[in-house]
Amino acid sequence: MADVIRVVVSGAAGQIAYALLYSIAKGDVFGSDQRLDLVLLDIPQMLPILDGVIMELQDCSLPLVNSLTPTADADEAFKGADAAMLVGAMPRKPGMERKDLLKANCRIFQAQGKAMDQFAKKTIKVLVVGNPANTNCLIAQRSAPSIPKENFTCLTRLDQNRAQAQIADRLGLPTNKVCDVTIWGNHSTTQYPDALHAKAEIDGVSTPVFAAVKDDAWLTGPFIETVQKRGAAVLAARKLSSAMSAAKAICDHMRDWWFGTQGDKWVSMGVSSDGNTYGIPEGLIYSFPVCIQNKQWTIVQGLEINDFSRKKMDTSAKELAEEKDMAMDFLNA
Ligand code: NAI
Repeated sequence: MADVIRVVVSGAAGQIAYALLYSIAKGDVFGSDQRLDLVLLDIPQMLPILDGVIMELQDCSLPLVNSLTPTADADEAFKGADAAMLVGAMPRKPGMERKDLLKANCRIFQAQGKAMDQFAKKTIKVLVVGNPANTNCLIAQRSAPSIPKENFTCLTRLDQNRAQAQIADRLGLPTNKVCDVTIWGNHSTTQYPDALHAKAEIDGVSTPVFAAVKDDAWLTGPFIETVQKRGAAVLAARKLSSAMSAAKAICDHMRDWWFGTQGDKWVSMGVSSDGNTYGIPEGLIYSFPVCIQNKQWTIVQGLEINDFSRKKMDTSAKELAEEKDMAMDFLNA
């Protein structure tokens, strides 16, 4: 059995964490023989709620759980941490403008970045989920200069899973028969779900999704919009934002980062845009197609980008550059 690893989940009293913690604790992410010191980080007002979550995790009677630590102290939480899933963020309140939300979150992710810089292992793998996820991730990354910038990623796997499920449903296939759908850009409505290089396995034969679907208008129209607006659709129907599917996507993202992707199939992750060959400005956290080996992601090279894709990829990059400028203004103020 591998040595115990220390895993931090922030926003641990929230609705995503409620589903996520159970999956992590039963081995869905780090493996079925990996013992875990689980650290549940939230704000001081939520500590009584965390006590309840901890009681439930104990009552799940899961053998991989070595210890459970509730805390509202980021320094304590990140001490010696091997992995962190940063789900907690300031939610948008009525009357709050986008820039107010960004400002509040800048402070949170700056503080957590600094705590990781000082106390976490330099090999820590950080997945930012709390919105605006890409820019929050960038702030945390910049606030932790002693940790390699590649160790900071943000979640766009939920968007990928949504896109894959839409195509599979259209083709009447199980979702695991669809691969290489790409999410480019920001985890926002400017994201670009791209099926141009996606494949579907039909009767054992790998077929381009455009050839299999035979409806270019759907793939370049309603498909994209459905994925871009799926979060809002879930919120409207459930009166609560996506939680079960978000938790599943977090597990998929972190498990693939930990254990690697399969063959030449890729997944989408928000990662540092530095050195990319797709003409996206450097210094952003932008969602790209990546393959992962030995816990290191690399951006998939050489995908052909047509004019349609170019425009959409640039629109999302522009939005991220604006968010970044706003965030830097707050941090430098
Ligand atoms: P929630 O409101 O149920 O829980 C959020 C938790 O974060 C609360 O317990 C809150 O006290 C905590 N929190 C706030 N500030 C904190 C801080 N400074 N340190 C630690 N914890 C803190 O929200 P839910 O539904 O769990 O969603 C969490 C975040 O995930 C939201 O920002 C949401 O927009 C985002 N999200 C991102 C997705 C993605 O694909 N990137 C998908 C779905 C949600």
